[in-house]
Amino acid sequence: MDSLPDKLPFFEVEGLHQSLEGQEVLRGVSFSAAQGKTTVILGGSGAGKSVLLRHLNGLMKPIAGTVKVMGRDIGPLSERDLRPIRRSIGVLFQDGALFDSMDVSENIAFPLREGGERDESAIAARVEETLSLVGLHGHERKRPDALSGGMRKRVSLARAIAARPDCLLYDEPTAGLDPLLSENITRLIARLKDEMRLTSVMVTHNLGAMRFVADHVIFLNHGRVLYAGEPEGLEDSTDEAIRNFLDADALGRE
Ligand SMILES: Nc1ncnc2c1ncn2[C@@H]1O[C@H](COP(=O)(O)OP(=O)(O)OP(=O)(O)O)[C@@H](O)[C@H]1O
Ligand SMILES: [Mg+2]
Repeated sequence: MDSLPDKLPFFEVEGLHQSLEGQEVLRGVSFSAAQGKTTVILGGSGAGKSVLLRHLNGLMKPIAGTVKVMGRDIGPLSERDLRPIRRSIGVLFQDGALFDSMDVSENIAFPLREGGERDESAIAARVEETLSLVGLHGHERKRPDALSGGMRKRVSLARAIAARPDCLLYDEPTAGLDPLLSENITRLIARLKDEMRLTSVMVTHNLGAMRFVADHVIFLNHGRVLYAGEPEGLEDSTDEAIRNFLDADALGRE
């Protein structure tokens, strides 16, 4: 019955405000992200994309407005009550945030251990399976500082999906990668969505990646949503900030 159009959204954000160091970073953001779909958040540097993403799993609390996860307002929840929600949401942070003291396998096993898994052979099997999903066999004993940037991204992705979450949050998964790796990661993300029926929210500057994976797009500018809808509609927008963003990308590809 998962094709019902009125199915509960995975995330529902309403009137979200956030100020940091006296600066209004989010100024009344509202959108919803459907289950099993990929919602892409676009916008220029400093628009508030990463800050917005950090509200979706309760790492940051709104100063006004609500964030609902599967219908539940997570604002009032304690750290303890947030734990099962965080476990259902994998995160690929913008900087990768790998543990430097752990090798690749240990990094990938980390969320499994955090989730209470104690069966070492089950952990090893899952790590193995996840390594092959991201194409990193043979590198399991390396530490993050011995990996290339693209490999680090793939390890971060592996760690985010190791515990088979219901949802993945990606912050710039292709930033800093060469075009080929960037395409590989984008295809991998699309495959994960198909194979694992993941709900995803992906922050990116990469319009190519957006076109490839997005079911729904949000364009954020100075903490406000300028567009929310189908990817195709964005390309027809006459909004100046959106046009500048799209035209700058076209210039970059000439
Ligand atoms: N922890 C923080 N303390 C103070 N200000 C912050 C903090 N995190 C973000 N900001 C500010 O909030 C604004 C939005 O930052 P954010 O990281 O969300 O931008 P972004 O849209 O993700 O940009 P980019 O595309 O460069 O990653 C910026 O002006 C930033 O300086
Ligand atoms: Mg960011």
